[in-house]
Amino acid sequence: MRTPLHQLLLLLLVASECSCIQWSSSALKEDSAVYACDNSDLILSWDVSKTTGETIVDVQWYYEGRSQELIAMLAHGHLNVMPAFSGRVELTGNAGLVIHHVTAGEKGNYSVEVNAVDASGRSVTLRRKAAVLIGDGLMTTNGQLHVSQMAVAVFSNSTQQWHVALTCGTFTYPDSPPSTVEWTTPSGQSVSSSQYQEGQFLLLLDNPVSGGSYTCHVPQRSASAACLHGNSTDVRSTVVVDDVKARLTLLEAENRQLKEHLIVVMDLANVKINLAMVNNVSGEVIGLKAENEQLKERLAQQERVVHQTQATMNSVSGQLVQHLQDESTQRVSFRVSHLNNTTPTHDEVLIYTWVHNNHGNGYNSSTGKFTAPFTGIYCFLSTLCGIGSGSGGGIAVHLVVDGAAELYARTDFGSEWGYDMGTHQAAVHVRAGQSVWLLTSGGSNVFDSSTACNSFSGFLIYYGL
Ligand SMILES: *[C@@H]1O[C@H](CO)[C@@H](O)[C@H](O)[C@H]1NC(C)=O
Ligand SMILES: *[C@@H]1O[C@H](CO)[C@@H](O)[C@H](O)[C@H]1NC(C)=O
Ligand SMILES: *[C@@H]1O[C@H](CO)[C@@H](O)[C@H](O)[C@H]1NC(C)=O
Ligand SMILES: *[C@@H]1O[C@H](CO)[C@@H](O)[C@H](O)[C@H]1NC(C)=O
Ligand SMILES: *[C@@H]1O[C@H](CO)[C@@H](O)[C@H](O)[C@H]1NC(C)=O
Ligand SMILES: *[C@@H]1O[C@H](CO)[C@@H](O)[C@H](O)[C@H]1NC(C)=O
Repeated sequence: MRTPLHQLLLLLLVASECSCIQWSSSALKEDSAVYACDNSDLILSWDVSKTTGETIVDVQWYYEGRSQELIAMLAHGHLNVMPAFSGRVELTGNAGLVIHHVTAGEKGNYSVEVNAVDASGRSVTLRRKAAVLIGDGLMTTNGQLHVSQMAVAVFSNSTQQWHVALTCGTFTYPDSPPSTVEWTTPSGQSVSSSQYQEGQFLLLLDNPVSGGSYTCHVPQRSASAACLHGNSTDVRSTVVVDDVKARLTLLEAENRQLKEHLIVVMDLANVKINLAMVNNVSGEVIGLKAENEQLKERLAQQERVVHQTQATMNSVSGQLVQHLQDESTQRVSFRVSHLNNTTPTHDEVLIYTWVHNNHGNGYNSSTGKFTAPFTGIYCFLSTLCGIGSGSGGGIAVHLVVDGAAELYARTDFGSEWGYDMGTHQAAVHVRAGQSVWLLTSGGSNVFDSSTACNSFSGFLIYYGL
């Protein structure tokens, strides 16, 4: 009876069976780069490991140059080599080849195919490919070394600093190279490269940078890997590093980094502000609603005030218009001259008979009295011209307001003939219906009759006070 556990065990057995024939750990990995020097050995170290019961049926090697061609085939323990590689091929391991005297023209992809059968008689095929580079000396693009100083500084993760970098190349190794270079510093010290990238060995100069000559050369131990056959120290290249320029390069890099950092920080700050704003929006909306209600209430209040004010203003302007209309009818003024009697006796009202104007009809030319039609402040002016009589004399006149003498003007002449004058000028409060006049008060009272020198005027200054 088969239980689920039995089935699982069977599955595990099948699975382990299928992975029995496999590449050895030491075998070339898929798509490895393999380097060989011109006219030397190309070693393709493929190898498979198998367990008992498993058999390799055959192994075939191909060169994928212009077209795919078979190099050799191993079957039944017999290595069969194609004519193009005849005499140059040797087996290494159970699936590897050594090809002697390869030439630069033979670079390209090489592949291997291993056909095997496992214990249960199932056939298994393993395939692998390698990219072969064949150097014709030094493994550089032009057979020479070239050292130069990189225009921009390089940041090192290990020192966490910017470094001025020197490059030495250009090597054709696409990935980790089998050879290396050595550097000689201005102080004569020998140092290794810091890293290899894109065909260049890099030397990151220590800070502070020492100015002077830096030389790159292939050390003797790397000579054969670099396809150098003679004295490798002959192959060298030197660059002179200016320590001031080097410091500038470092400053530029740091500056650039700071700027980038600043941009990042500013972006972050913006993001934070935006987030805060987003978080704030709902609160703000509630706040705005409350504020809106308050504003509406205030607006309504303001509108009520405006309406009240408008009503008041309408009323005031109505009153004002009325007042102005009233005032236009309340203009009061008069001017009169020419006394009816130029020689009045004591306590006689001066009567002027020429009425020049009399707005409001306050002056009565029959009585010589002005009667105020409205209460207010009135201004009264009178000019009195007297004539001496040879025996002296003069004129004396009161301005009388409602029976009370308010002002007094008088002139006194000596023994000689002559003219003289007196005046009254006064702002006087007069109530409606009260009268104002001029009244003689003793003296000889001889007035000039020939001219309009004697006159009496009055007008309303303020209405209603
Ligand atoms: C070698 O194989 C790679 C892919 O693995 C391919 O890109 C390349 O073109 C091949 N080179 C030659 C010379 O066939
Ligand atoms: C340096 O570190 C960063 C991340 O910390 C990494 O992306 C980068 O590849 C590292 N560079 C080197 C040369 O190790
Ligand atoms: C290589 O040449 C240098 C001079 O260019 C010489 O000093 C050195 O001894 C030589 N080394 C060998 C191994 O011939
Ligand atoms: C969040 O809202 C409050 C009140 O509405 C305001 O004072 C504050 O400035 C707001 N914060 C941001 C980041 O907008
Ligand atoms: C002037 O006064 C006289 C005497 O009092 C009076 O009869 C007359 O009507 C008055 N004239 C005017 C215009 O009031
Ligand atoms: C003016 O004087 C004459 C003569 O003295 C007199 O008859 C007349 O009534 C006077 N007029 C007035 C308004 O007093």
